[in-house]
Amino acid sequence: MSAELVCFSEPCRARFPITDPIYSCPQCGSLLEASYSGDHMPAQMLKTLWRGRRTSNAPLDQSGVWRYREMIPFLDNYDAVVTLREGNTPLLPAQKAAQYGGLDFLTFKHQGFNPTGSFKDNGMTCGASQAVRLGMTRVACVSTGNTSASMAAYSSAAGLQPIIFIPHGNISYGKLAQALEYGAKTFQVEANFDQILALVRTLADKLGIYLLNSVNPFRIEGQKTIIVEMMDQRDWNPPDWIVLPGGNLGNTSAFGKALRELRDWGLIAKTPRLAVVQAEGSAPFYDLMHTPDRAALTAVPHPETLATAIKIGDPVSWPKALHEVVCSGGVVEKVTEQEIADAKAIIGLCGIGCEPASAATLAGIRKLTKTAVIAPDADVVAVLTGNVLKDPDYIYRYHTAQLDAPNGMRIKSTFANQPIVVPNDPDKIAAMLETSPKIL
Ligand code: F0G
Repeated sequence: MSAELVCFSEPCRARFPITDPIYSCPQCGSLLEASYSGDHMPAQMLKTLWRGRRTSNAPLDQSGVWRYREMIPFLDNYDAVVTLREGNTPLLPAQKAAQYGGLDFLTFKHQGFNPTGSFKDNGMTCGASQAVRLGMTRVACVSTGNTSASMAAYSSAAGLQPIIFIPHGNISYGKLAQALEYGAKTFQVEANFDQILALVRTLADKLGIYLLNSVNPFRIEGQKTIIVEMMDQRDWNPPDWIVLPGGNLGNTSAFGKALRELRDWGLIAKTPRLAVVQAEGSAPFYDLMHTPDRAALTAVPHPETLATAIKIGDPVSWPKALHEVVCSGGVVEKVTEQEIADAKAIIGLCGIGCEPASAATLAGIRKLTKTAVIAPDADVVAVLTGNVLKDPDYIYRYHTAQLDAPNGMRIKSTFANQPIVVPNDPDKIAAMLETSPKIL
């Protein structure tokens, strides 16, 4: 198959070589996407090939991204690939969460099982590999945390110099620590995510640094495989709904592209509906979906949420995400800080756990079943985007009734699980065990 970069804007649709180091259309400024032409293997052959690779010891086959390389054929050979065996993330049924969300049954696809603990690894293996292929030496990103952790790991693994820009004081230590440990040059900028993205785009152009934010079309290609793997794990039976948190909206764009391509290639027979969930204080995409003409996104100038991963007021990928949500017959919901915090504790009680942004999914499901948008017997997969250990400070504060929302209001610790200080006395501890209440 041959690969090109194509402008996403319908009236433009300009085409560029796949090796051009560009992130937006030089003619009209819109987003770019990778586009493929030529024959592909028949669907049944692909399914058999991919299933067979699961028993292989070859690094490319062990990666839950490159195993599906026929769906992301942008490299002309695989020497450039840098893989940490990303993907391979489980589908986990969660009964307590289903009940809380108003569903008979619910499955989580947990991207927090990735090498650096978030779904960013699925995209970063592709972005970093493209950087190597292009002969780049330095790569950069702005991040609310997970992108930087992932970029630092993959770039260092590939021998590239990672340069990271993060909003000062607004990312969790679980993420910042990873960036430092993986050797990234880390700049904490006194500005918010949206402002820093503009800064980094200017710097990248000026200094010839390759940009690995989700505007990078190859990141989107890698994130598509989250959906391909999900379908493979479900024996190619699509769910009714796929629920995910929305921040910069790269993942929404990737999931929609994957669904369209899987359908075009005859790998799935129906398209699941996408439900994107945003935090109330940072919900420009929700607002856009609820304007009559959906013509342009109005940025939220000062986004606020404790779910810092999705604290983004001006998401760059909104045109793609809008297209994908509409194509899938999907919806966008928003949830409060309290709803996120309680949903997160419930996911924890399933023995699963996730970071705050991920828990927006269950909070959104609870709202969407209450308003009968999602039926109780619907087949729903929610994507947990990040690992529980990414943000331990949030967890400790919630369980010890010290978690304050950005507006200063104390969040109610509905499902609190306080650590208990006890004397060194077995009888007293035994008595306390008998009397201490159950959380749920
Ligand atoms: N969940 C987590 C855990 C994230 O880290 C992010 C984004 C999202 C959801 C939202 O995904 O941007 O594709 O809509 N984190 C980015 C970062 C922005 O810099 O790590 P999106």
